[in-house]
Order: sequence, then structure tokens, then C-alpha cells
Amino acid sequence: MAPRRNTPTRQIPWYQNLWEHNAVGIAVSICILIWLLYPTKTDAFSHVYAQQQPIIDCGPDGPVKSVAIIGAGSAGASAAYYLNKFKNPCDRVNVTVFERSSYVGGRSITVNVYDDPTEPVELGASIFVEANKNLVSAIRELGLITTSRSSKELPGTLGVWDGLYWKFVSSESRWWTKAKLLWKYGLAPIRTQNTMKQAIGKFLKMYEEPHFPFRDLSQTAYDLGLTEATAATGEEFLVKKGIGSPFSTDIIQASTRVNYAQNLNKIHALESLVCMATDGAMQVQGGNWQIFDGMLKVAGAHVLLNTSVTSIDRRSDGTYAIDALSSNSAVQSTSYDAIILAAPLQYAGLNFQPDLPHPPQEIPYVNLHVTLFTSTSALDPQTFGLNANGKVPTTILTTISDSQHVHPDFFSISTLRTVHNSITGNREYLYKVFSPEPLKSEFFERVLLLSPDGSPITWRYDKLWQSYPYLPPRVTFEDIQLDKEGKVWYTSGIESFISSMETSSLMGMNVARLITDGWADDDSPLEKETLGGDAPQRVQAAEEL
Ligand SMILES: Cc1cc2nc3c(=O)[nH]c(=O)nc-3n(C[C@H](O)[C@H](O)[C@H](O)COP(=O)(O)OP(=O)(O)OC[C@H]3O[C@@H](n4cnc5c(N)ncnc54)[C@H](O)[C@@H]3O)c2cc1C
Ligand SMILES: *[C@@H]1O[C@H](CO)[C@@H](O)[C@H](O)[C@H]1NC(C)=O
Ligand SMILES: *[C@@H]1O[C@H](CO)[C@@H](O)[C@H](O)[C@H]1NC(C)=O
Repeated sequence: MAPRRNTPTRQIPWYQNLWEHNAVGIAVSICILIWLLYPTKTDAFSHVYAQQQPIIDCGPDGPVKSVAIIGAGSAGASAAYYLNKFKNPCDRVNVTVFERSSYVGGRSITVNVYDDPTEPVELGASIFVEANKNLVSAIRELGLITTSRSSKELPGTLGVWDGLYWKFVSSESRWWTKAKLLWKYGLAPIRTQNTMKQAIGKFLKMYEEPHFPFRDLSQTAYDLGLTEATAATGEEFLVKKGIGSPFSTDIIQASTRVNYAQNLNKIHALESLVCMATDGAMQVQGGNWQIFDGMLKVAGAHVLLNTSVTSIDRRSDGTYAIDALSSNSAVQSTSYDAIILAAPLQYAGLNFQPDLPHPPQEIPYVNLHVTLFTSTSALDPQTFGLNANGKVPTTILTTISDSQHVHPDFFSISTLRTVHNSITGNREYLYKVFSPEPLKSEFFERVLLLSPDGSPITWRYDKLWQSYPYLPPRVTFEDIQLDKEGKVWYTSGIESFISSMETSSLMGMNVARLITDGWADDDSPLEKETLGGDAPQRVQAAEEL
């Protein structure tokens, strides 16, 4: 069957048509190039807006397509950003983002140490890595600046504490740490790296055809051979790969505990391996939330803060109406062609009319206590089994030793940096603790080397997060499309697969693509007749063109 020339036109970038078809097009393209090279900067994002301008004759305006996104975290912001990128340049798309809280970013948020806006610190998601394609490319496009995880002022060492003993302590030199790891654990660190790289390699295929976009995460995980890793606990899977204790319990479990507050005999192996992918760990200077704020601005989305969606109703004409509450007044808005729920359904407090045919199941989330505090006091070496002039690692991770009755009552204590307290004039340490329970004063008295004069804590911020799901082994994941009509979409099912800013972004991008592909199919009825919507053939047709 000969592919129709007009069939997959939306898969060819518009500028390519200009090059191919006429000289005027070439002239226009050169002008655009010059314009791109010399942007007039009216605000921080003008260079980005410039690239978004469709320079194409679209004929008379078609109807506006309205999309409602519920949640302005990574998933919702990415959905808006990629809708704008994937849409046909002639499509008029209006995106409204409803956000219950007063800020953009969801679980990516900073708070200000001493309430000083020049000293923000991450309260939620703090780290991402080189392999996080969407975050890294958005940062480039937005011109955001990143810093590497380790701070320069506090030469970082990292130790793994089991409540009584240090299982491993890194050294300030990376090479020396590597040598120590190999000396203590033999080939296990190398095997872990290789196993992790294989898994990440498979995961990265989710961004590419023929796997992208995916309608069914369970099927895609299976096709990519990732189900093998989600079906087993970290412990079981690693043993099969020849990686056992003590490396798995000392090092890998310390990572699953600090990243997901879960032990290796409970959390599935894919998430365990993700914890070991730390190459190029970084964060955005001033806060990771700026990625998502920037994405929404570039997309030109209407963001309604302090606006909590309460119900989603399908109307007889096939569009959707949304009811929301905004500072105690009710807001109703109508005629959405698509709805993207970009938040865990169980915490969204939504009512669907009619009921969803297969609503996502409620899944248990970790209740994680994050405590940020400042103090002039250092960590007490003697509490951590060192002699009085010993040096406590700047980052303390934890593991549990089955042979012992004493287990740590926290997942991690990180000395993040020093900060200047303008009231006392002191330089103080900024600490972050992850724990399963709120911290009591006894905790501070125990871990800090207290000076005799009064309260050691000069600033404190406590937050209880439903941070990520518990991640037991599983092979099926929640549906991406929640209704039969293909108009209600859901991003949070990916959290049981891998829970991170990047995977939420990937799912936002995936949903954006499924929606724009649906629009393209609606616009070209011929395509359905000739190709029957068959994905592999469409891809082939696109390649031939
Ligand atoms: C302490 C902590 C540390 C973490 N560390 C990392 C890390 O280092 N690296 C990493 O990649 N990930 C980390 N994560 C996980 C990461 O934060 C999440 O996986 C990711 O941010 C989820 O993004 P999301 O958009 O799917 O959901 P969310 O960020 O939760 O966004 C959902 C949004 O929807 C809004 N909402 C919900 N219901 C409604 C409604 N009815 N109406 C309107 N709005 C609604 C919510 O207010 C929220 O803003 C961490 C999380 C926590 C809590
Ligand atoms: C787009 O949505 C916003 C609010 O969400 C609304 O005010 C505006 O009228 C809409 N524009 C169009 C063209 O539909
Ligand atoms: C949202 O509400 C908070 C207080 O609850 C307020 O400070 C803030 O200005 C509000 N933001 C918007 C955009 O209405």
C-alpha cells in the first residue's frame, strides 16, 4: 500500500515543508533564523516564545480546543508544555491549569531559611540527574542554572549508619571512595552499575518511537523488558544478578531509604536501580519549581492558583464542565475538549459525572516527615560512635542490620550548607532530616553537639508529605485514559512504576502526544480509512516521507 502523501504531515516539522516546497519558504526560514539569533528580550522567556510563533498560513481559524489540566506540578506543567510543542501549528489550543495550592510546582517547592527570600531550600523533590531528558532539555530552553549536588563549602563525605555502626563512609576524594567500595564489596558495585545502566537504557526507549507515545504503561513496561524488574523486590532481583549483602544492604538500601523511605525487601527492583542512577546529580539554583513555572509560561497556559477542582461532568455534547472552589467561591467553567488529571486521584477530592468506568485504585503513599532546621551546633561525633574529635559525615544515610535490635529512627540527616543568620550574626549549619515520625526535642539533643547556652535550633520548618507511593512489586499500572471516549487522562499511574519529577514529566508529555495525535486523526478522516490507525504503519509511512 502506497502511503498517502498527506497522511502523516503533522509528524513533519512545519519548517521542513517550507524547505521542500518553495523558495519563498526558504527566504522566510532564513528570516526566522536571523530573528532567532537576535531575539529582542522583553522578558526572561522571550527567546523561548520566539521559537513558538507559527509562521504559516493556516487559512480561516478553526474552533479553539480547550484543555483543562488539574495540578500544576511536574506532570501538569509538562502536559501543558508539550501540548504546545506537539500541536499542529494551526490548531488553536487553550490550556487552563487548575491548582489547589497557592504555588506552581506541587511536590517541588522551596521554603526560605529564616524567611529570607535569598536563602531558598528545597522542601520536596531536590535532585534530578543527567538521564532525566525532559528536565534537562527544559532547563536548557528556559536558561535555568543548575548546581551539582555536593556543596563546595562543605566538602562532602557520606556515611551509612545502622543505629550502632558505620557500614560505609566515603572519603572526600571520589577515586579513593571508588577504591574503598571495590576493596570492601568486590564486584558488586560494578555489577550494580551495569544492571542499573541496562534498566535505564530500556527506560529511555519510552521516549522514542515505536514505544512513545504509550497508551498502556503495563504493556510498554512488558515490551521493554522492565516488568522483570518491577515484578521482583530489589533484594530478590539483585540476588539473581549476583549482587547480595553486604553491598545491597549497606549501599543500595541506604539509597532506597533516603529516596523512597522503603527497604530493599519491600520496594521493587526497578525503583531500587533508579536510586543507583546518580550520574550528574543536580538541582536548579533557586528551586526546581522554576522548571515547571517556566514550562507553563512558555506554553502560554492560564494558571488558576488557589483553585481546587471538585467535579468533572460530561455534558451531552461530549465536552466537559468543571466545578472548582476558589477562596470559598464556586467557579464553573465549561466546554473542555479534554481533561488531564495530573495529581494522584485519591488525594484530589474529585467527583466524576458519570462515574469513571475503571477508576484508579487507591494506593498507599509514604507519610514522610521532612524537617529543615538551622543551628550553630555540629553533629555530635559521640552519638555516632566516633571519638570526641571525630568528624561526622555531612550526609548520614541509614540502613538496618537484621542482627541488631537498634535501628535508626530517621532515614537521613543532610548538612546542606552554611547560612548567615542576620539576627545573631552567626554562620549556621542548615540541616535536612527525613524521618518516619515527627522529630521531638530529644532528637536534637541527641544528634547535635550542644553548646551549654540554651536552644540550639534557630529556625525550623516541618512538613508532612504524602511523598511517593509504597512501591511493592507489580506488573500492571493504572490506566492512562480513564474514560471510554478518550477525553479524560491520568498521569499519576506512573508513580507506581517510577516516582520522580522526570517520570511525571514523561507522563505529561505522553498524554500531550496522545491528545494531539487524536486531534490529528480527527482532522484527517482519510488516514483512518487507509491506515486504520495502525501505529507501526504510520511510523513506517512517516519514515518513508
Ligand atoms: C520530600 C520529597 C522528596 C522528593 N525527592 C525527589 C527527588 O529528589 N527527585 C525527584 O525526581 N523526585 C523527588 N520526589 C518525588 C517528586 O516530587 C514527585 O514524583 C513529582 O514532583 C510528582 O509530580 P506530579 O506533578 O505528578 O504531582 P504533584 O507534584 O503532587 O502535583 C500535583 C498537583 O495537583 C494539585 N491538585 C491536587 N488535587 C487538585 C484539585 N482537585 N484541584 C486542583 N489542584 C489539585 C496539587 O496541589 C499539586 O500541586 C520527592 C518528593 C518528596 C515529597
Ligand atoms: C481560554 O481560557 C481562559 C481561562 O481559562 C478564558 O478566560 C479564555 O476566554 C479562553 N480563551 C478562548 C479563546 O477560549
Ligand atoms: C492564594 O492564597 C494565598 C493565601 O491563602 C494568598 O496569599 C495568595 O495571594 C493567593 N494567590 C492568588 C493568586 O490568589
